[in-house]
Amino acid sequence: MFTIGNTQFEDKAVFLAPLEDITDRPFRLICKELGADMVYTEFISSEGLIRDAEKSKRKLLFEEAERPIGIQIFGHQKESMVRAAIEAESVQPDLIDINWGCPVRKVVSKGAGSGILQDVPRMLDITRAVVNAVKVPVTVKTRLGWDENSLIIDQIAEALQDCGIAALTIHGRTRSQLYGGNADWSLIRKVKENTRIQIPIIGNGDITDCTKAEQAFKDYGVDAIMVGRAAIGYPWIFQEIKHYLKTAQIPAPPSSEERYQTLIRHFKAEVLMRGDIFASLEMRKFFTPYYKGLPNFKPFKMRLMQATSFQEAENILQEIRQHYQ
Ligand SMILES: Cc1cc2nc3c(=O)[nH]c(=O)nc-3n(C[C@H](O)[C@H](O)[C@H](O)COP(=O)(O)O)c2cc1C
Repeated sequence: MFTIGNTQFEDKAVFLAPLEDITDRPFRLICKELGADMVYTEFISSEGLIRDAEKSKRKLLFEEAERPIGIQIFGHQKESMVRAAIEAESVQPDLIDINWGCPVRKVVSKGAGSGILQDVPRMLDITRAVVNAVKVPVTVKTRLGWDENSLIIDQIAEALQDCGIAALTIHGRTRSQLYGGNADWSLIRKVKENTRIQIPIIGNGDITDCTKAEQAFKDYGVDAIMVGRAAIGYPWIFQEIKHYLKTAQIPAPPSSEERYQTLIRHFKAEVLMRGDIFASLEMRKFFTPYYKGLPNFKPFKMRLMQATSFQEAENILQEIRQHYQ
């Protein structure tokens, strides 16, 4: 068992990663129901939050059933980050996570996300200021370093802990790798093996199945793992990993009926949140992932991608349901 702030987690916890445009309220709830031990909002711009931007504010909303939940913020200015953290604290999340890992050019070029890995004193200064500004636990999510010549995670982990963070998530890639190559977990293990590190370490990167999850705990010793891309359209990964870790048995994949039921639930919740048209557009990125592995799915996919309402898409989903029965 380990704790982040006042929240207790069982050993070998499995977290849903923050994913922009994916981990909205409906999707987080589904992952939660299917076993995720912790969920995070998409990253939220600190500048947007303090400017009262509608889009950023909306991302603060969550349901009690999602707890424990972390609100993730990003930015590059101390004052904005502090004010954004105070704003995020007002909706009482279980923690606030600082994004020091995003590799996207427009974020990095301002010195936010993984851009801060080129200016560690500023990273520590902002982190400390955010920790001191709020009562809720503050955590950090970052990468191994800027590039292969600056693998600094083992040095900054201790310094971040000294800033008062309650847990550290490490994505085993550098900023230069973006999402390519393989995640290198050996440096994550090095941080975990540092006897001065007391805070929980959450390992992230390329957990795509049960055996990789088991390896992350067994070979790298992390307190929790965080799953990102593999959960998109496959929220069952959480319960599968947890089942496997307990029994060493890989459970049967969800039937096409289960996929249909879950997708419809997800879709309906998106309609409630965004309205019919925007929900139909939003769901386009999920259709194929939900049906991954089904043979000859392409013709259905082409049609689903044209649907502009729930009803239109549902008719096609019903056909799919019957076709793959
Ligand atoms: C579409 C997409 C959106 C992402 N958005 C965020 C984000 O908002 N905040 C964040 O910290 N990381 C974000 N990430 C990074 C993931 O949280 C995670 O660190 C990365 O995908 C590696 O984990 P994985 O191999 O399990 O996907 C995003 C990744 C993807 C693919």
